[in-house]
Amino acid sequence: MIRKTLLISLFIIFLTSCKENTIMEVSSPNQKLKVSCNLTEKGEFYYQVSLKDEVIIDKSSLGFSLENAPNLKGDFKVVSSTVSSFSEKWKMIWGEQEEIDNTYQQLTINLQEKFKLERKVTIVFRVYDDGIGFRYEFPKQKNMNEVLISEELTEFQLTEDTKTWWTPGDWEIYEHLYRTTPFSKINAFEKEKQILAQKYIPNNAVNTPVTMKMKNGIHLSFHEASLVDYSGMTLKVDTTKLQMKSCLVGSKNHSYKVKRTVPFHTPWRTIQIAEKATDLITSKLIVNLNEPNKLGDISWFQPTKYTGIWWDMHLGRKSWDLASGRHGATTEYAKKLIDFSAKNNIKAMLVEGWNTGWEDWVAANRDGIFDFVTPYSDYNLKEVVDYGRKKGVELIMHHETSGDVATYTKQQDTAFALMKNLGIHAVKTGYVGTLLPKGEYHHGQFMVNHYNNTVIKAAKYQVAINAHEPIKATGLRRTYPNTISREGLRGQEFNAWAMDGGNPPEHLSIVAFTRMLAGPIDFTPGIFDIKFDKYKKDNQVNTTLAHQLALYVVIYSPIQMVPDLMENYEANPKAFQFIKDVGVNWETTKVLNGEVGDFVTIARKERKTGNWFIGGITDENQRNIDIDFHFLDKNSDYEATFYIDGKTAHWDKNPTDIQIFKEKITSKTLKKIKLAAGGGFAISLKKLQEK
Ligand code: NOJ
Ligand code: CA
Repeated sequence: MIRKTLLISLFIIFLTSCKENTIMEVSSPNQKLKVSCNLTEKGEFYYQVSLKDEVIIDKSSLGFSLENAPNLKGDFKVVSSTVSSFSEKWKMIWGEQEEIDNTYQQLTINLQEKFKLERKVTIVFRVYDDGIGFRYEFPKQKNMNEVLISEELTEFQLTEDTKTWWTPGDWEIYEHLYRTTPFSKINAFEKEKQILAQKYIPNNAVNTPVTMKMKNGIHLSFHEASLVDYSGMTLKVDTTKLQMKSCLVGSKNHSYKVKRTVPFHTPWRTIQIAEKATDLITSKLIVNLNEPNKLGDISWFQPTKYTGIWWDMHLGRKSWDLASGRHGATTEYAKKLIDFSAKNNIKAMLVEGWNTGWEDWVAANRDGIFDFVTPYSDYNLKEVVDYGRKKGVELIMHHETSGDVATYTKQQDTAFALMKNLGIHAVKTGYVGTLLPKGEYHHGQFMVNHYNNTVIKAAKYQVAINAHEPIKATGLRRTYPNTISREGLRGQEFNAWAMDGGNPPEHLSIVAFTRMLAGPIDFTPGIFDIKFDKYKKDNQVNTTLAHQLALYVVIYSPIQMVPDLMENYEANPKAFQFIKDVGVNWETTKVLNGEVGDFVTIARKERKTGNWFIGGITDENQRNIDIDFHFLDKNSDYEATFYIDGKTAHWDKNPTDIQIFKEKITSKTLKKIKLAAGGGFAISLKKLQEK
């Protein structure tokens, strides 16, 4: 059930008709953050951001270059500026936090060109305690109708050479390793060891979220919110000026990057600002900058863990296609997996490779190979669905489009109708490879619209979307809560086959402070057979087993895969108990400690049960972590089960060494836990009788 907004209050503080050269300012509700704006002598608009009176983003100008009109970047006058306040509390119908506080101060500045076309543009800043967002609004007006944006000229001027965690500003795929360098050393063209299908990195640009640490310990993360009918924004890096400038994703089919008709507004450009790294993770800036739920009740989707016929294919033991003779998606295998899921209280199961067409899925001429309704001859879709229903396990559908968006768009109604008839409420979509229609990039306006329209259409059939090779998450899960999860990073799959040896031990301690700030991640944690030598000699998961367990808490998603082969879980029932127990929907989240790229510990309280789960991970360095359980309910005892790295555990030398033990814990307990190199720990805390 959708819960209603608890409280809304909106009141205007003041409205000024501005003279030129009047600084316009707005502060965060706690007064720590301040945005100041003004015009230069040439009438160019700029903003500046300070935290506790220290400038953290220096004068940065805004504007546009347009294809069908003169640039919109100067000769402005301020027609009016308004400061207003807003405060509400809203409920996430699923999420990492149940109640969200959305309190900000807003500065709205109406600009108009002084001469000639006298075009108008409005700049809106929202300043929160955890960061800022701003966007451009184009009102209806006489001399501007269709707008062809060749570039957005938004600047972010840093004040020092920050430590930066970044991925290259690829227009096609986000599946790159994060690099850690001073800002001045960012080089997006640095040769990657990994093999990626099609790469397009137009400038020395980075993708967002990009996270930075200043010398005084302040953390900044740059991203965008509510990306709708616009191109994704990469950020062009000027390593000398210490400046970033928007570089929108383009298309080979036309020279402009965005086409819109007035009135419209851009996505929010966001900077999450935190005095310590851990506060980045609990920031709700991105969802708050999105509109409220437009779908109403979506109780047909419930957060869940899910198994799948999936890892098998990535290991090469089975295949997606039938012709290979190793077809994974058979009725028989699916039923076995349903039995396993039911036995272990896992309510959903994904089957990949169920529909015809996989023989040619990576072929150059692959348009129209999939129809998303025709199963292979050895897979009886209806029988599998019925069997699952009897056992309380719902199927998750798979639509790999192979980048053939043109065909998928035509077939969606039929494909979603089949799902509705069968009572299937979630689909994992995939967009591997270059796109059809040719010339479009995954992150351009055309695809942004495709991904968003898919979510909206799916909702009509009571279908939720988990997109792989997606557009970045920008908080639209608030507006369309059937946007349940997505990939959009180097997932676990890279550990199975990446030629660079997979994700390094530090990967997820960076992801937690970068990609995860954007939204839920379908990472597929929980591989138990870490070395999988039987299947692939050259690869392995580069973490310990305890680290894999911790990821169910550290990496947030309302659907969490239980991906390893059944026999690997059956061989280690004690460790598997954590996966059986761990929640997927949270009342509250506390980040207990962490530094970007080094380590992080997150505690989450499960909705309904009140049980807590804690996950902690470290990079390639072993370390001791102190846990203070003060956040637990004062009037309860808890039965804690600890899953920690064993004495000889090491991500490479002995990854499966794990120690499992139970203890009684209260809110007064203090504990020291040793994490191995590439290690981690998980704790489940079951609430005992209240005292
Ligand atoms: C890439 C996805 O990330 C992966 O999860 C999936 O198995 C394959 N594509 C096939 O669709
Ligand atoms: Ca992928």
